[in-house]
Amino acid sequence: MSILEEEKKILCLAPMAGLTHAAFRELVAGYGGCTLFFTEMLNVRAIVFQNPAKDPYLITGQRDCPLRAQLVGREPELFARAVKRLEESFAFEGYDVNFGCARGAIQRYGWGVALMKEPGLAAEIIAAVKENTVKPVSAKLRSGFKHEPDQLLRFVEALIKAGVDQITLHPRAAEEGFKRPARWEEIKLLKEAFSLPVIGNGDVFGPEDALRLLESTGCDGVMIGRAALLRPWIFRDVAAFLEQGSYPSSPSPLEAPEKMAGLVTTYLPPALQEKRFELWLFWYLQNFSFGLHYFGQIKKERGLAAKLALLRKLLASERIGPYPARPYLLR
Ligand SMILES: Cc1cc2nc3c(=O)[nH]c(=O)nc-3n(C[C@H](O)[C@H](O)[C@H](O)COP(=O)(O)O)c2cc1C
Repeated sequence: MSILEEEKKILCLAPMAGLTHAAFRELVAGYGGCTLFFTEMLNVRAIVFQNPAKDPYLITGQRDCPLRAQLVGREPELFARAVKRLEESFAFEGYDVNFGCARGAIQRYGWGVALMKEPGLAAEIIAAVKENTVKPVSAKLRSGFKHEPDQLLRFVEALIKAGVDQITLHPRAAEEGFKRPARWEEIKLLKEAFSLPVIGNGDVFGPEDALRLLESTGCDGVMIGRAALLRPWIFRDVAAFLEQGSYPSSPSPLEAPEKMAGLVTTYLPPALQEKRFELWLFWYLQNFSFGLHYFGQIKKERGLAAKLALLRKLLASERIGPYPARPYLLR
């Protein structure tokens, strides 16, 4: 038996704003291997005060399950009301609270990683979510606002007291952005300090990295973000590698964009289809040496059909290279 089956490790698609919508999750699901999907972050205020039936962020696919909803905000009462509302008409597998997003605007509102400075309030948010659902409630964290492992431990302890069922750690401090390598040793620190499941995240760029992360930290699962944008089939490859030590070859460079164009048309409202396709291409094209140049050309084309036609030309003689699938900024 492989490490996947024996130890019930889970493989998660990371929540990524503007990117892990229903169409992209379906693309990932179609390639297989992912065992837990997350939505992009959902603003609790929007869920409470707008009509969820008309909210494009709440569209779900057919194969993107189990699907956990990631919530972002600040007021425990709004988290409670949002979860109550979602429980009434959606079939999410559980709820995740975003304590990790380090974007300027999010931090200015006091959301995301800014809440790591307020463990009392963060615990109240977890308790408010727990009170309104019997489903799993998880939290996604960075290392902290600054790099302070003792504070990280205290923060997690507060969330555990409030009832959190699982933690995902992206081990970089807010002030570090993506500038330094993820500190996987902090994933191990949490795993050793607490008995709840810990999902490891950060800098998994291929199947070999996933195995190294599992083995070096003892974590209960792996969450992959950017490399899944470059290779939506990465979960299939990780699962195969963990099961049998090898993985299939990559699909042709055009396959994923062709599928994605169909999926955005099926799942997203017309006003978002081209924007979301383009946003994903920014990442996908980083598989190729001249990807940013290709992206500049694709951006100038208007309409999905025109973008696809140009892609067919640009990618005709390209191939997907071996892992690791690193985004440009890290090469
Ligand atoms: C474009 C982008 C959008 C992101 N949006 C979110 C988000 O909505 N919620 C969240 O918790 N993390 C978000 N993240 C962080 C990722 O979920 C993940 O923690 C991070 O990218 C590290 O994982 P990776 O090295 O596998 O990419 C985002 C990251 C990127 C690159």
